[in-house]
Amino acid sequence: MKSSMASLSLTVVLLGVSFVLSAKGQQNSARAAVQDTKGQSVYDELSRAPQKARAKRNPLEKDSEAVAAGRILFEQHCAECHGGAAQGGKKGPSLRVADVQDAEPGALFWILTNGVVRKGMPVWSKLPEPQRWQIVSYIRSLGVAPTQADSPPAKSQPPETMDLFSRHR
Ligand code: HEC
Repeated sequence: MKSSMASLSLTVVLLGVSFVLSAKGQQNSARAAVQDTKGQSVYDELSRAPQKARAKRNPLEKDSEAVAAGRILFEQHCAECHGGAAQGGKKGPSLRVADVQDAEPGALFWILTNGVVRKGMPVWSKLPEPQRWQIVSYIRSLGVAPTQADSPPAKSQPPETMDLFSRHR
C-alpha cells in the first residue's frame, strides 16, 4: 500500500516536472520565432553598397537592346538560382521585390561585381561590365511581382483536389 502511494506521488512529481519543462520549451520556441522575424533580410546586402557605387549611372539606360540582351544573360547565369523570371528559386531569393526593384542600378551593379559569397550569391566580376549593366537593365524592367515563385504550384493543387482524387479511386 505504501509503495503504491509512493509511486503515485512520484508520478505526480514527474508529471509536474514534464509540464514545467514543456511550458519552458514553448517559451523558448516563442522567443526563437521573435528572433527570426527580427533577423536580417536577405536583401540587406544591397543597402551596404557604398555611396560611390550607388551613384554610378547605368551607361546603357537608354539602350533599347540592353533589356533583351540582359534577359539572355540572366537565363544563362542567374535563372538557375533566381528562377526563370527572377521570381525566386530553390537556391536564390526573388528579385521581383521592392528591395531589389527600388535599389539604385549602381547598387545592383555593385552586388553583381562583389557577390554575397558567404551567403551563396556568386561574384560576377568576370562578366564584362556592359553585360553586368545589361543584366541590371533586365532586372529593373521586370518590376515587382505580386506573388513569390513557390506559391503558384501550391495553389494549383490544393489539398481538397487531392482528396477528391483519392476518393474516386
Ligand atoms: C548559385 C546560386 C546563385 C546564382 C547563380 C546567382 N545568385 Fe543572386 N543570390 C543568390 C543568393 C543565395 C542570394 C541571397 C544572398 C543574401 O542572403 O544576401 C542572392 C542575392 C541576389 C541579389 C540580392 C542582393 C542581396 O542583398 O542579397 C541580387 C540582386 C542577385 N542575387 C542577382 C543575381 C544575378 C543578376 C545573377 C546572375 C548574374 C545571380 N544573382 C546569380 C544565389 C545566386
